[in-house]
Amino acid sequence: MKLIVAYIQPQKLNDVKKALFDKAVYKLSVTNALGCGQQMGYHESYRGVDVEVNLLKKLRLEIAVNAEFVDATVDAIIAGARTGNIGDGKIFVLDLAECIRIRTGEKGNEAIG
Ligand SMILES: Nc1ncnc2c1ncn2[C@@H]1O[C@H](COP(=O)(O)OP(=O)(O)OP(=O)(O)O)[C@@H](O)[C@H]1O
Ligand SMILES: [Mg+2]
Repeated sequence: MKLIVAYIQPQKLNDVKKALFDKAVYKLSVTNALGCGQQMGYHESYRGVDVEVNLLKKLRLEIAVNAEFVDATVDAIIAGARTGNIGDGKIFVLDLAECIRIRTGEKGNEAIG
C-alpha cells in the first residue's frame, strides 16, 4: 500500500479529479495548503509596495492506494495538473503501513479499495 501526497494548483482540481475517476480512483482527501518550491515564492506589488509572497496557495491531495494503482494514480495527477509552467506541483509516494475501515474493522488492501 502507498500513500500518494500531491500538491497541485487549486484551479487544476477538477481536471485531476476527472483524470483520477477515468482510472477508477475514486477516494481522495483534499485540503488547503500553503507552500513554496524551488522558486521560494515570489515578489509581487501590493498598492505600490513590493511584497514578498513566500507561501502560495496550493491544494494537498492524499490518496491511499493498493500497489497496482500507484502508476495510474501518479499518471492521472500529472495529466490533470500539468501546464508546463513553474508551480505545477509535486507528487510524493510514501509507503503506507496500515489502513483500517472504522465501520467494519477491515484492514489493509480490503479497507483501501
Ligand atoms: N521538497 C518539498 N517538500 C515539501 N513540499 C514541497 C516540496 N517541493 C514542493 N512542495 C510543495 O509543492 C508545491 C508546488 O511545488 P512546485 O510545483 O513549485 O515545485 P518546484 O520544485 O518549485 O517545481 P517547479 O520548478 O516546476 O515550480 C509547493 O508550493 C509546496 O507546497
Ligand atoms: Mg516552484
